Amino acid sequence: MSKEDYFIVGGVDVGSTTAKSVILDSNKKLLGKSLQNVSPRVAEDAETSFVKACKDAGIDRDQVFLVAGTGYGRLKVRFGKLVVTEISCHAKGSQFMFPNTRLTLDIGGQDTKAIRLGEKGEIIDFSMNDKCSAGTGRFLDVCAESLDYSLDDLGPVSLTATRPVNITSTCTVFAETEVSNQLARGRKKEDIVAGLHDSIAQRSLSLMRRVGIEKEITFTGGVSRNQGMVRSLENILNTKINVSPLSQWFGAIGAALYAIEEVKKGGEFVFEQLEVHP
Ligand SMILES: Nc1ncnc2c1ncn2[C@@H]1O[C@H](COP(=O)(O)OP(=O)(O)OP(=O)(O)O)[C@@H](O)[C@H]1O
Ligand SMILES: [Mg+2]
Repeated sequence: MSKEDYFIVGGVDVGSTTAKSVILDSNKKLLGKSLQNVSPRVAEDAETSFVKACKDAGIDRDQVFLVAGTGYGRLKVRFGKLVVTEISCHAKGSQFMFPNTRLTLDIGGQDTKAIRLGEKGEIIDFSMNDKCSAGTGRFLDVCAESLDYSLDDLGPVSLTATRPVNITSTCTVFAETEVSNQLARGRKKEDIVAGLHDSIAQRSLSLMRRVGIEKEITFTGGVSRNQGMVRSLENILNTKINVSPLSQWFGAIGAALYAIEEVKKGGEFVFEQLEVHP
């Protein structure tokens, strides 16, 4: 394969909660994508996710020259011949979609990560939440359930709040107790929801401060679909942040971009782990 040849690659981001796949061509055009929940059978989910994206792109899987895996379950992308860490992939995807990105905030189901980028998209520093799921999508999922809301409701409900409550804990284990305590105090559901978002924004702010806050800030991961979360972050940061309807796929897009680079470099792939960053 030479630099000028047309070829197709795949990026598969297997997270703790969802698997996201994209199909890109060598001109970096998005041909297809998929999203699905992850079950205990992670390797199968990775496979299904990739097959669905091929279908969405209207191609046969054999037409894909190289697949790169990323995310928590990246080593389960067994059909992929390249493995890249998610810090690298979220940074790469963000910089591709928003070239002036200097800080990427990825809030997924289990992890929250702040990544600072240089002018050329290089990773300067990153920080992530500790083992606990406080301040992640999982926390919002538990709260939505205890308030009888769907995930899609959370953002719109949060935007109707008039007096967000002050939530003291973002511990997922105590999330239900926190919610019922606030309800018992007679607080409105929308004000509780907005308070939950604000508390996550506060936690994310600490993470972002650790790496240094610099504009532009790009929000990735599934929680970026939540408009209430976008608003809370913009309020606390006092600036607009970049979000795209594709934000949940930025890690997968980054992986596919690494695959394009590797093919153009003319690598022979058996199975290579590209440790661009931890
Ligand atoms: N429609 C939606 N509205 C609001 N939030 C959503 C929506 N869909 C997904 N989410 C949030 O996104 C989270 C999953 O995000 P994502 O797909 O980035 O996780 P992941 O990559 O599997 O996790 P991690 O990166 O932590 O391993 C869910 O936990 C949920 O909180
Ligand atoms: Mg993720």
